[in-house]
Amino acid sequence: MKINPRRKHAPAAQISWEQILSNLDDGVITVDLAGKIGFFNEAAEVLTEISSAATTGQPLEQIFKREPWLLELVRKTQPPRQESARGEGDFVTRWGRKTPVSATVAPLEDRQGQFLGTIMLLRDIKHRRELEEDLKRTDRLALMGTLAAGLAHEIRNPLGGIKGAAQLLRRSGDGDPSVKEFTDIMIREVDRVNHLIEQLLDLSRPAELDLAPVNIHEILDDVLLLENQALGEEQIQIKKRFDPSLPPIRGDRAQLTQVFLNLVKNAFQAMGQRGTLTVASRLETDFRIRGEGASASRFIWIDIADQGAGIRDEDLSQIFSPFFTTKTNGTGLGLATCYRIIKEHGGTIRVDSTLGQGSTFKVSLVVAD
Ligand SMILES: Nc1ncnc2c1ncn2[C@@H]1O[C@H](COP(=O)(O)OP(=O)(O)OP(=O)(O)O)[C@@H](O)[C@H]1O
Ligand SMILES: [Mg+2]
Repeated sequence: MKINPRRKHAPAAQISWEQILSNLDDGVITVDLAGKIGFFNEAAEVLTEISSAATTGQPLEQIFKREPWLLELVRKTQPPRQESARGEGDFVTRWGRKTPVSATVAPLEDRQGQFLGTIMLLRDIKHRRELEEDLKRTDRLALMGTLAAGLAHEIRNPLGGIKGAAQLLRRSGDGDPSVKEFTDIMIREVDRVNHLIEQLLDLSRPAELDLAPVNIHEILDDVLLLENQALGEEQIQIKKRFDPSLPPIRGDRAQLTQVFLNLVKNAFQAMGQRGTLTVASRLETDFRIRGEGASASRFIWIDIADQGAGIRDEDLSQIFSPFFTTKTNGTGLGLATCYRIIKEHGGTIRVDSTLGQGSTFKVSLVVAD
């Protein structure tokens, strides 16, 4: 190894432990013998949304009163046990926002094993949780797709038989108007079921994407124009917050149009008579979201935020499943289709929703480099 004699290294002695801890990505907090907070680094500030000035010298029980699980962990480090421990739970900010965190706590002891306090490491595991959720969902959808495809095949054959028989019946009805009327209904309904089955089969077979660099803003503009024209009396506002410097993404224009049409339709339906739809685009700068081992390609996010009724917690895990719908005239295939198309683009689709306030669907797509 060559050493560049001109490069200056700061002598190790000049870097204080506080500087080192301040620069860590994990939240670091120390608690003294009296249970008061001593050190509170920048990452802890970001995670808790509380400044170190507001926490230093304050009782831990006060600052973490909404996190009893964390206080319980810290108690394990205190005498008589003086043990290290790990745990996971939610951190709840003053504004009620929850962040899942993992915590590692350990007793601080002097050379004689005398207890001096506790050190706590906090890590934001929101991204990890989202990746786990994604994985679970992909597994479930793959299984459903296989089942549905099998079933669809079985249904298609007898349907063909019914339609054929209805057509024969119609012809042999000698122009009898009621035979004509009823057989027309039979044929139309069979066609409708066939169409549904086609959509279902589409979900389980990989689409052939026609990938090219696409300007996502053009697609969003088209979709918004189209859906805006379909509005009637409703007082719906549309706000565009596009990042003008956004690079083109790699995608299939027709398929992506379908995705954003479905999302905007859902948003309008959720709002009913009034509300604001905000469509925003941004370039992702936090590359950790992709998870370990993923390619380092750049990507963008499109947020579609409505002020509709929101989605109940118990429905959230279902909305991407085929045929899940809470609408009387819904097929429940809209979001399942979006999910499949975005996955095939190497992107992700996520949702944040608050009951009574609205939902935000977030789609990430890969930049065409
Ligand atoms: N923006 C939204 N706000 C509130 N709930 C939503 C929103 N988008 C989707 N949902 C919920 O997810 C369900 C599934 O949506 P999806 O688009 O897959 O089907 P659908 O809209 O019910 O039917 P289709 O899309 O076939 O008309 C909806 O029935 C609704 O309960
Ligand atoms: Mg829909």
